[in-house]
Amino acid sequence: MVETLVKSANQAVEFLKQVSRPVPDAAIVLGSGVKVLEDLPGEQSFSYEQIFGISPTIVGHAGSLTFGRVDGKLVAVLRGRFHLYEGHDWEVVTLPARVLVEWGVRHLYLTNAAGGLNKDYRVGDLMLLDGYRDHLSPHWKQTGLLPAVMAPAHPCANELSEHVWRVGQQLSGSDPEFRPLQRGVYAALLGPSYETLAEIEMLRRLQADAVGMSTVPELKTAAGSGTLAAAISVITNVWSDDAPIDGHEEVLKAAKAASERLDRLFRAAIAASA
Ligand code: HPA
Repeated sequence: MVETLVKSANQAVEFLKQVSRPVPDAAIVLGSGVKVLEDLPGEQSFSYEQIFGISPTIVGHAGSLTFGRVDGKLVAVLRGRFHLYEGHDWEVVTLPARVLVEWGVRHLYLTNAAGGLNKDYRVGDLMLLDGYRDHLSPHWKQTGLLPAVMAPAHPCANELSEHVWRVGQQLSGSDPEFRPLQRGVYAALLGPSYETLAEIEMLRRLQADAVGMSTVPELKTAAGSGTLAAAISVITNVWSDDAPIDGHEEVLKAAKAASERLDRLFRAAIAASA
């Protein structure tokens, strides 16, 4: 079994301390197909295998941690994550976030690809998470999903997400090409298949704005620690019965434009953070 090789958070932190003396000012976890902060000055990369003892199995997840500089600040860009639907347990899924928290990274930016539920959303929108719905934690195995469905969304706005929001507003205020950020509730489901139409209808009634299969474990890990986490969904598809379905070309174009906006947003947010 692969999992026996997985390092403990402690071991991974020790490794990172050896290869990077100062703790980075910020870490960014990139989800499927999200391409930002490439070719940073002074880059140095390590594989997840080296750090965590395990690699992601998902296409579009490189499984590398790259140190580089943004506006002189040291950042760690983590390309790829582990998901429950890959068969990993909660310990593995939260390992990178636990390591970043234990290492003392103050600002953690999380990204994911998500489906839009809010009918005002368009493919390529960026949604800052104000709250999340947890429909994937393993403890629902004991209780069934009803408590998850009955519970209100968990709020997750904090100083860092407010900072990202303000930076987004400045960018869209000064550049008409920069689509204003959306702000909403992300629902995490186990996956790996996309939702049924009945689930989409349920999630809409529960007032979720976007749906995906990640990020909530990391938000839960950071909550209450010294690490502030802000999460952004890249809306790669919109669940809609009235809007025309975009072709593959349009979706790729929208995803690329979204990545470019996200890149500007992160660079500006990191440069302007205290
Ligand atoms: N559902 C779940 N995960 C996703 C989706 C979706 O519609 N789009 C991108 N990731």
